Parts: sequence; C-alpha cells; structure tokens
Amino acid sequence: MSGQEHIAVLSREVCENLIGTGCKVFVDATIGGAGHSIGLLERYRQLHIIGIDRDKEALDRAEGTLKGYSDRVTLLRGNFRDLKQILGGIGVTSIDGILFDLGISSYQLAAGRGFSFNDDEELDMRMDARDVLTAYEIVNSFRQDEIARILYEYGEEWQSRRIAKAIFDRRKKDRIRTARELAGIVASVKRKTGKIHPATKTFQALRIAVNDELGSLSDGMDAAVDLLARGGRIGIITFHSLEDRMVKQRFRGDAALTVLTRKAIRPGIDETRNNPRSRSAKLRVAEKN
Ligand SMILES: C[S@@+](CC[C@H](N)C(=O)[O-])C[C@H]1O[C@@H](n2cnc3c(N)ncnc32)[C@H](O)[C@@H]1O
Repeated sequence: MSGQEHIAVLSREVCENLIGTGCKVFVDATIGGAGHSIGLLERYRQLHIIGIDRDKEALDRAEGTLKGYSDRVTLLRGNFRDLKQILGGIGVTSIDGILFDLGISSYQLAAGRGFSFNDDEELDMRMDARDVLTAYEIVNSFRQDEIARILYEYGEEWQSRRIAKAIFDRRKKDRIRTARELAGIVASVKRKTGKIHPATKTFQALRIAVNDELGSLSDGMDAAVDLLARGGRIGIITFHSLEDRMVKQRFRGDAALTVLTRKAIRPGIDETRNNPRSRSAKLRVAEKN
C-alpha cells in the first residue's frame, strides 16, 4: 500500500468550535488517521476521546498514532449509525461532543480497494471488509436502470443513463474487474471538463451505494443528537452537496439544536493549497439545547 499521508481537514476550526464548556467525553466518529483527535487531545487536557471507525486498518493505524495518549483514548470498531449500541457496549450513555469527518481517507484511497481511478485491483470500495456488497457486484450484476439510478441519485450525474448503458454493453462481452477499467468505460462516453476526471461522479455514487453512506449519516446524526448532553456540540465535515444538504436540513429542523455556524465553515486559501482534498470541505456545528 502506498504511504500517502492523510491530512486532517479544517483541523484548527474543529479544535476552536467543537469543544464547549466542561467537555470531557468526546466521540471522534470517523477516527481515520486520528489527525483531528491528536489535535484535540493536545489542546484539551481534560478530554477523553472515543474513536470509532468501520475500517479495521484505520483503527490499527489510529492506535499506533495515539500510542502516547492511550490512557485518554478508547478505540472501537463499528459503523457510526450504530452509535448507541457501540457506546452502550462500554457503558457510555451521554457524550459532550462529537465529530463526523465524512468520506474516505487518503489511506483508503491508496489502499488498492478500487476507490481510485488508477487502481488495477478488483473493484471493491467497501470501507468495512465484513460488508457484503461491493462495487464489482453493482457494476456487473445490477440492472442497467438500477445502475443509472445510483449514478443519478448518489453522484448527481446527469449523464447517468449513457454511462449505465456503456457499463451494460461492456459487461455483455466481459466482466468489469478493476477501477481502472470502469474509469476507462466512463471516459469513453463522457468528456473531461476542466481538471475533474469524467468518472468522479460515478465513483462517488458507487462508493455511497456500497457503504450506504447517506443512510449511515442519517442514523448517525439521530443517535448523536440523542446522546449529546446539554451544551454538547456536534460537528460534521462534508465533501459533497448531498451530504451537506442533509446536515444543513437536519440541524435547522431540530428544535433540540442551536446551529452555531450560520454559514458552513470552509477552508482558507492556505489550506486548499497545501491540501487539495480540502477544497470541497464544509464544517457545520450545532449545540444541544
Ligand atoms: C475522512 S476519514 C477521517 C479522517 C480523520 N478525521 C483524520 O483526521 O485522520 C473518514 C473515516 O471515517 C470512516 N467512516 C466513514 N463512514 C463511516 C461510518 N459510517 N462509520 C464508521 N466509520 C466511518 C472511514 O473508514 C474513514 O477512515
């Protein structure tokens, strides 16, 4: 696996906006490479962080990174949509803060699981290897109209039908095995606009479908708001409009929350220059009443 480092997005802004008065028990629901958690542990000496990830490799890496803080960190594997059960398993029924930094990490992008256009490994895209559905299965066995719907709904890909047809035509001849093959099929029917790869939306859509990312987010937000103590804060970093819309509406429509970010917090020029992945990031924060 390539050793591309994951740089935590909006790290300073997370530290400055997520820790309310008296915050002690904080959940990092997407611990990944532990970049945000390290920053929080260094700055707030009273914090105990419960770090969650559905990816075992991420948790193993986080454990190494957080070795110096092991007395203030608890790491648990699971999907944050099951937050109540995960925390209930260690007797935690109330929390003072929670962060969701959505999507995948640079480590996962480089892990040869088919997340990247250049991957010659089999199309997989599972964050949790215990899950059953893979991108390979969607692309090679779902109906053409189902594939088009996934690309349209989860990728906001307006050329969804044309791409689904190209996928369908190809698989009549041979199975589509790798991410590189799939990216090539999309590029053969969709022109490149600017610097963005033509398969970007297709890959986003498949990843969301494979990992049920929107369903997990919806359940995760519900559980988090229930678990938050009064004055506790929830922060969510999103990377595309589907997620951001869900978060914005959920925060605004919940009488139990006060929205602290009237507009989403975006990275500054320096951050986007150092970390191009941060370009589309938006952080929204709310406090439990
Ligand atoms: C963008 S990375 C987080 C990076 C982390 N904040 C850091 O600073 O290194 C997102 C992580 O969340 C995990 N993840 C995504 N969806 C999840 C879910 N529903 N439940 C648990 N973990 C999830 C991914 O496996 C990935 O490791």
